[in-house]
Amino acid sequence: MSTTAEETNDKSTREVVAEAGRRRTFAVISHPDAGKSTLTEALALHAAAITSAGAVHGKGERRGVTSDWMEMEQARGISITSAALRIDYADRVLNLLDTPGHADFSEDTYRVLSAVDCAVMLLDSAKGLEAQTLKLFDVCRARRMPVITFVNKWDRPGREPLELLDEVEQRIGLRPTPLNWPVGIAGDFRGLLERDGTTYTRFTRTPGGATRAIEETLTPEEAAGAEGDAWTQAVEELELLGEIGADFDPASFMAGESSPVLFGAALPNFGVSQLLRALVDLAPAPTGPVDARGAERPIGAPFSGQVFKMQANMDKAHRDRMAFVRVSTGRFERGMVLTHAATGRPFATKYTQAVFGSERTTIETAYPGDVIALVNAAALKVGDTLYAGPKVEFPPIPSFAPEHFAVARALDAGRYKQFQRGIAQLDAEGVVQVLTSDVRGEQAPVLAAVGPLQFDVVSHRMAEEFRAPIELAHLDYTLARRTDAASAPTAHSLSGAEVLTRRSDGELLVLVHNKWRLRVIQRDHPELVLEPLLAGGVE
Ligand code: G4P
Repeated sequence: MSTTAEETNDKSTREVVAEAGRRRTFAVISHPDAGKSTLTEALALHAAAITSAGAVHGKGERRGVTSDWMEMEQARGISITSAALRIDYADRVLNLLDTPGHADFSEDTYRVLSAVDCAVMLLDSAKGLEAQTLKLFDVCRARRMPVITFVNKWDRPGREPLELLDEVEQRIGLRPTPLNWPVGIAGDFRGLLERDGTTYTRFTRTPGGATRAIEETLTPEEAAGAEGDAWTQAVEELELLGEIGADFDPASFMAGESSPVLFGAALPNFGVSQLLRALVDLAPAPTGPVDARGAERPIGAPFSGQVFKMQANMDKAHRDRMAFVRVSTGRFERGMVLTHAATGRPFATKYTQAVFGSERTTIETAYPGDVIALVNAAALKVGDTLYAGPKVEFPPIPSFAPEHFAVARALDAGRYKQFQRGIAQLDAEGVVQVLTSDVRGEQAPVLAAVGPLQFDVVSHRMAEEFRAPIELAHLDYTLARRTDAASAPTAHSLSGAEVLTRRSDGELLVLVHNKWRLRVIQRDHPELVLEPLLAGGVE
């Protein structure tokens, strides 16, 4: 009996739905040094995706994703590429997308969060919420994204667990619901007690080179004898948590209002398997995305995906552009000819790669939640939609609050045309935001960035790719606020402030030197519209 086209369709839709259901696509949001690289390695280690610790992380030769696309990258010893790490665990596919931090913190770091379904908020037990974590959380909050909290470095002296939870609740209004509880204070870590009060895992340090953490479990009676006062205190604290109702609540977790909390220590690989379990059991699978018209596209619909990051010149010889695409719906097969929604033009996908850690491998198929990298993607921009079948276009990825500003000028006035073309191209690609005003004129646009690395990329590409070297004069602003046409003239006349138009979306932005200046302006001119931008609310 021959199968009809409809039956084949049904089968492939079922396959897509099943594969999407196995995906958990997430990112770690943290401040530099909280232990993101260590945790990434520990997660992969536990899942046995790699055989020994150190294969992913290594300060000396950090192997996020290696590429030789810029001398500057090598000179600074940093990886600019945002990598995806695939971890196969318990019949699930965990896609961990990197959020570049340290010197490579940029608008891309925020954009990665538009490509994940869940975030792990990683806190250093001694430091609690830190600046970069707060900014990244701001983006998660705006997307109402579920957040799992992992309190790291419990093997070192740190703060009280209840105090840390209190900080999370008070400062960012995220209700913590611990899934486990530490026995022994930070620095004298004895082990982890599950919230049900019956399962206790004793803290053991995994010997170097081991592929799995040793987990010694004790019954509550044994634990009480072994841990003494530390046990009694933990049990009391657990009772207190029960009384205040800090229990895991799926609905508020999914709405980004409460957060399951786990304690552990990534370096000695402790508490990491619990985090993996939480990701598998609690983190959401991809769901049908909402398109620009507000309609939901079923996850099993034909392929669609959105570009969340562009990277240029990875291969100097070819000047290629690579587009990182999150699969939104359907099944991707290498070689498919897709449609680029912005132009209606076909886009061939012969050269498609999956980017996992330091490896770039050619991929054949991908499902919702996966990340694919398309090479020769010069026609694509951040936020663009690619699809097969009926037309679909996803809403743009928002611009984020810039914190660094510089005026760009062509070094060679004779190459002004190339200068204009280059700046327009880099703006369109989302490499930097370009701001202009009548006062400053077209010849001297203001470049606005989330991280200073973006300026280095602009300078490099303007010189190498557009043959229009630029000079950048840094401006003394650190804050941007959205304003309206009515407020603009007054805001522009104030000292220590300036109004510019963002070219990409026409927004009027007020640039201000610092938060103190902003407060004075708000006090003296309460009538002015000065709205925080996304990720700019935290100063
Ligand atoms: P990041 O990617 O978030 O920037 O942090 P990274 O993993 O590089 O960790 C920052 C430092 O914190 C590293 O020490 C790392 O070993 C340490 N660390 C991470 N998790 C834990 C933990 O659970 N317990 C303890 N005690 N330390 C932890 P480093 O000395 O800066 O670097 P390295 O020389 O050890 O690589």
